Amino acid sequence: MPIVAKEEPKNPRARLFVALDLPDELREGIAEWGRQALVDPALRPVAPESLHITLAFLGNRPEEEIEEIAAVVREAVGPAPWVEVLDPEQRPPRGRARVYALPVLSPGTEALQAGVEQGLVEGGFFEPEKRPFWPHLTVARVRPEGRGSRRPVVVAEPPGKLPEGLSEARICRRMTLYRSELKPTGARYVPLAHVQLPG
Ligand code: 2AM
Repeated sequence: MPIVAKEEPKNPRARLFVALDLPDELREGIAEWGRQALVDPALRPVAPESLHITLAFLGNRPEEEIEEIAAVVREAVGPAPWVEVLDPEQRPPRGRARVYALPVLSPGTEALQAGVEQGLVEGGFFEPEKRPFWPHLTVARVRPEGRGSRRPVVVAEPPGKLPEGLSEARICRRMTLYRSELKPTGARYVPLAHVQLPG
């Protein structure tokens, strides 16, 4: 059988986003709550190691831009923000839920996001979203009704409130540029550059 070399794509692209990482204590607290709150079979909980607060979703960018984008993210360093997570909300707010997320109360995260967005826009890497930034932490996605369907199934048992201690303010000391690799089993987030935040 002739050996045919597998062709490399000419313009390899990467699906990129910038996110604020969570301190371990918060990540573990959410994971523990999720084990009893995200039990409906319609839900696909986000793996504890994948929990994050998205600051900017860049979509597919040429791989050759990654170094420059990482430099912009490093440049956008700002004070480590304090965050408070609130009880879960569904999105969209009415009708069938597609995702459940914890809204995040954090002026510091909004300031950091504005700086990241400005740097990325100036670099020509990002088109700002038309809707205002909604700081949040997605904890579960809802399964589609069937193969090829985009309609989510009905969630009979939506997640309830958070335990009291989980909403205490916590500081987030790291921002990361991630590559999202889409797999049949769900997305895998690969860190490309970490930025430590002072404060
Ligand atoms: P979400 O958690 O609210 O779904 C990687 O996909 C990250 O980028 C996710 O945190 C996701 O937010 C965020 N994101 C923002 N806009 C997106 C889009 N249009 N498509 C996919 N992910 C998006």
